[in-house]
Amino acid sequence: APKAIIAPSILSADFASLGPECCRTIQNGADWLHVDIMDGHFVPNLTFGPPVVVKIRSHVVKPTEDYGKGTFDCHMMIAEPKKWVKEFKKAGCDLYCFHYEASIDSSAAESPEEVTDRRSSPRELIQYIHEQGMLAGIALKPATPVDVLWDILASPEKLERPDMVLIMTVEPGFGGQKFMASELPKVRALRSKYPDLNIEVDGGLGPGTIDQAANAGANVIVAGSAVFGAKDPAEVISLLRNSVNK
Ligand code: DX5
Ligand code: ZN
Repeated sequence: APKAIIAPSILSADFASLGPECCRTIQNGADWLHVDIMDGHFVPNLTFGPPVVVKIRSHVVKPTEDYGKGTFDCHMMIAEPKKWVKEFKKAGCDLYCFHYEASIDSSAAESPEEVTDRRSSPRELIQYIHEQGMLAGIALKPATPVDVLWDILASPEKLERPDMVLIMTVEPGFGGQKFMASELPKVRALRSKYPDLNIEVDGGLGPGTIDQAANAGANVIVAGSAVFGAKDPAEVISLLRNSVNK
């Protein structure tokens, strides 16, 4: 599996001092910052938008290479992911990870053929994100089977293939929820077919759950409450990293 990437979720940071908290988290050994964007529609919660991302970007040195230290891994829990691509690029986002469920709107389809047509839209969105100069990720909620990804990962066009897959291990919307081990077979299935893929897990990760996730093959680890709630965040970050790399 590719090397460990530790991405603390700033959802659990002190929102009144986000800049210093972000800067300190990188100093504490984090690779990326996981930036949770919620719109109150796709998930029943609200966080923040581009102006806040601009401000925290000024506290964290922009990476000079893809996947580098300080990468802003923006987890877009929003109903209209295409609409916000350019704004988030401008704001300083490096990796734009949208939800599969928001990219196909089968509820509005009028026929089975139309549903099939819409299957190409995650690939189009990935291509668009790449054209705008960001890495592209695709996220799955717990209810979405991993099988929806095989076509997308097998696309012959490199621009249409995601740079990362995010398997949610809680229902998106809130920090501090209980880890769902039921999602790990998705990680296992992805890892067995794609040894080099960046596979991110998000929700309920910490010292008590990291081994299961790492054994299943996850290498990009999001942790919110486990890092920001710790007495010694640097220690938790290094424990997570060592668990993935061992
Ligand atoms: C939940 C968010 C997560 C959240 C994780 O919707 O996507 O990134 O911050 O928080 P913990 O690590 O506390 O479960
Ligand atoms: Zn997240």
